[in-house]
Amino acid sequence: MEEKQLYYSDYLGLNKILNSQQPVSYTGGHIPAHDEMLFIIIHQSYELWFKQILFELEYVMQVFAKEKINDNSEDLNLVRHRLNRVIRILELLNQQVHILDTMTPLDFLEFRNLLTPSSGFQSKQFRLIEARLGLEMQNRHGHDYYKRVNAGGFTQQDYSEINKIENEETLLQRINRWLERMPFFESSFWQSYKPGEPGEKGDHDFWDDYRTVYKQSLTERESNKINDFDYVFFEKKNILYTEDQLAMLRNSFTPKALRSALFIMLYRDFPVFQASYQVLDALIEIDNMLSNWRHKHFIMVRRMIGMRVGTGNTTGAGYLEGALSKHYIYKDLSGLSTYLIERRSLPKLPDELIRHLSFNIY
Ligand code: HEM
Repeated sequence: MEEKQLYYSDYLGLNKILNSQQPVSYTGGHIPAHDEMLFIIIHQSYELWFKQILFELEYVMQVFAKEKINDNSEDLNLVRHRLNRVIRILELLNQQVHILDTMTPLDFLEFRNLLTPSSGFQSKQFRLIEARLGLEMQNRHGHDYYKRVNAGGFTQQDYSEINKIENEETLLQRINRWLERMPFFESSFWQSYKPGEPGEKGDHDFWDDYRTVYKQSLTERESNKINDFDYVFFEKKNILYTEDQLAMLRNSFTPKALRSALFIMLYRDFPVFQASYQVLDALIEIDNMLSNWRHKHFIMVRRMIGMRVGTGNTTGAGYLEGALSKHYIYKDLSGLSTYLIERRSLPKLPDELIRHLSFNIY
C-alpha cells in the first residue's frame, strides 16, 4: 500500500492551531471588537514559546540531575547552547509586547469585561517555568493569590500540576549541588600556592588572601561589605543583621556553592572555567530577561488599565509591581558582582590546580 505523503498543514497541526482563535466579542450578540484577535494570537504565541522554553529546561534539568558532569563532554556544551536558546526566545517575547502596544486602552476596553475572570495570571506554563527555574512559593509576592482555585485562580488540575513541579527539585537546587561538588579547594591542588600578606586566618589560604584584598578594595562607605562577604561565603553572621537583611544577602544558594561560583567568575578567562562560567552567566541573563518582561508587561498593563484591578482578581498593576521586585530567582548569583576585585589583584593560581581542572569531571 502506498504510504500517505506528509502534508505541511497536517504535520504542523494547522487545522487545530488556526481554528483556535475564537474572539468572544464576535459571539453571543456582542459588538465585535477588532483587536481581540490580536489579543488572542499574541497570548497563543507566548504560550507556544513557553512550551519551547519548558522543553529546553527539561533537557538542562536532566543534565544537572547527574552526579558527575564532564566539563569537556557534549552535556555542558548543549546546556550552554540550549540556555542561550531560552535567552533568545525571551528576547523575542520582550519584543512582542510592542505589538500589543498597538492596541490602545480604548480598543481594549471594548472586550476587556468579557474576559473576566480569566487572566495571564492563570498561565500554567509561565508558573512552571518559574517553578522549574527555582522560584519558591515563600519568595513569591502575594502568596495567597497562588492558592486560589476559585474565580481568577487555577483549575484544580492546573493547581495540582504546578504544586507537583514546585515540590520537585529545581534547576537552582541542581546547580547548587553541581557548584558544591567542584573540587577547586582540595588541599592537594594548593601545595605550591604562595600565601600573600598574613591576614585573618580562615579555612583556606586562598580565601584568607582574597578576603584581605577585597577588604582593602572597599571604600570607607562600603567598609561594612566585609561583613556581607563573611556571611555570604562563610555563614558568619554579624549580630547587628536582622534575618531579613541576611535573606537579602543570600537567599537560595549555599556558601560553599557561592564560593565556587565566585571563583569561576574571577578566573573565567582561563579556558577551563569557560563552560561553567557561561552556564552561570546564562542563568543570570534568563533572570534578567524575565525581569525585563515583567517590567514591560507591568508598564503595558498600567497604560492599558491604569490602577483598575486585574481580570484575574489581583490588585492589577500593584500586584505586578510587587512580583517584579520580588521574583528574581538567581539573585544570589548576580549579587556576586559585589564581591569581585580587579583582575590584576587576583591571587595567582597554582599550576597543579589548573592542570587538574583541565581534565576534571565534577
Ligand atoms: C492588554 C494586555 C494585558 C493586560 C491588560 C494584562 C493584565 C494583567 C494583569 C492585571 C495581571 C495581574 C493578574 C490579574 O489580576 O489579572 C496580569 C498577569 C499576568 N499576565 Fe497579563 N496582561 C496583558 C497581556 C498579557 C500577555 C500578552 C501575556 C502573555 C502571556 C500576559 C501574561 C501574564 C502573566 C504570565 C501574568 C502573571 C504575572 C506574574 O504573576 O508575575 N499578559 N496581566
